[in-house]
Amino acid sequence: MKFVLCCCRPKRKTLTVKDICQELVLNHEAIKEVCSCLQEEINRGLGKDSNPEATIKCFPTYVRELPNGKENGRFLALDLGGTNFRVLLIELGAKCTMDSRIYAVPQPIMVGPGDGLFDHIAECLASFIKERDLGTELLPLGFTFSFPCKQEGLTKARLACWTKGFKCPGVEGRDVVELLKQAIARRGDVRIKICAVLNDTTGTLMSCAWKNHNCRIGLIVGTGTNACYMEKLEKVELWDGSTDEPPQVIINTEWGAFGDNGCLDFVRTEYDNTIDRESINPGRQLYEKMISGMYMGEIARQVLVRLVSDGLLFGGYASDILLEKGSFFTKYISEIESDKPDDFNNCRAILEELGFNDATDADCANVRHVCECVSRRAASLAAAGVAVLLNRINEESVTVAVDGSVYRFHPHFHNLMVEQISHLIKPGIKFDLMLSEDGSGRGAALVAAVASRSASMR
Ligand code: GLC
Repeated sequence: MKFVLCCCRPKRKTLTVKDICQELVLNHEAIKEVCSCLQEEINRGLGKDSNPEATIKCFPTYVRELPNGKENGRFLALDLGGTNFRVLLIELGAKCTMDSRIYAVPQPIMVGPGDGLFDHIAECLASFIKERDLGTELLPLGFTFSFPCKQEGLTKARLACWTKGFKCPGVEGRDVVELLKQAIARRGDVRIKICAVLNDTTGTLMSCAWKNHNCRIGLIVGTGTNACYMEKLEKVELWDGSTDEPPQVIINTEWGAFGDNGCLDFVRTEYDNTIDRESINPGRQLYEKMISGMYMGEIARQVLVRLVSDGLLFGGYASDILLEKGSFFTKYISEIESDKPDDFNNCRAILEELGFNDATDADCANVRHVCECVSRRAASLAAAGVAVLLNRINEESVTVAVDGSVYRFHPHFHNLMVEQISHLIKPGIKFDLMLSEDGSGRGAALVAAVASRSASMR
């Protein structure tokens, strides 16, 4: 095993591991300050004149009705938003059944020409339809496209900018439904009817609202982070659609971009700056970069490297693997924090994978402490966002639908968020955070179903 002494920094012997991690700990005042900035930025996003300059774009989704639980029919859904792409067949009735297949999106496609991406999607869709023998039916399709889009209708969404590691030239500013239709037309072997394009947050909200009538917020803490919520039309100055009943619309906040104007600099650290600088989209999605799964592991890795270089961890020696960008996966944080308080089984196994075969108990405890600081900070920041939305909605009892790998797999994320939100909401508001199963599939079908119901009622 080859160890590398990391001596890029003068040793600061007086500082302890706790001292160094303190930067990542947000006190109540700081979190409250984050809440008030976010509240202000959302107002700017919703305002007609302030929107063009606003960082939080607050895109109206054109979804104005929640499901009533009676939706039925067969639907196709496409789900693009992370490293995988899924095609789903959903049957809505008293129950919801689902059949789906996951297709990888190879890295070169994630950053290659836009047509290549849409051809890939169309090809996966065609092969799914063929495999499931669905060629004879003209099935309605919901397209979950989880990137910031300015919607101009339920089936028209212009990509504002790529996030989460995607960067296909030729798509920003274009309507992604049109691009999908063109790719399907280029093949000529698929017949579908695109009924809705939606964000994963909207799908998550709809999927939960199907059975839970208090649901008003959809939250994702996964590869990226974002939230949507049901807003009164009178508060959406930006809205230029119809003002008929119901006087409300789901707003896709795209809060991942919070902080892109510098307003979060007071809580950002040198690690956040490095992550941003080395990312594919510097200066963008700064709140997302402090919270979501695409970045959490890397934040932890940078803190660990810093501790090693200060001589506070692993005897001052870092393994080659630890020094490699991206080597400390976000899932390690969930695994390490899943160890019982008095053992380090997962922690030790992970450290071995990283090339540390003789980590001491003190090393393990310190690694765990770093993970806890990173995940606690993420949970507090996400909680601040949810509290702002709950206070805006200001209803007595609201369910927040949540999905995403960080929320799902981290052993304490839910509890950390609940605790923090309780400290930040107005007295009298009750809330619960509910894991929402399959927003991108069932949620897409529900948006398509509700859309056809609303259309037939007009
Ligand atoms: C990113 C996307 C956003 C999505 C979120 C969660 O922030 O911009 O649209 O909802 O990730 O997947």
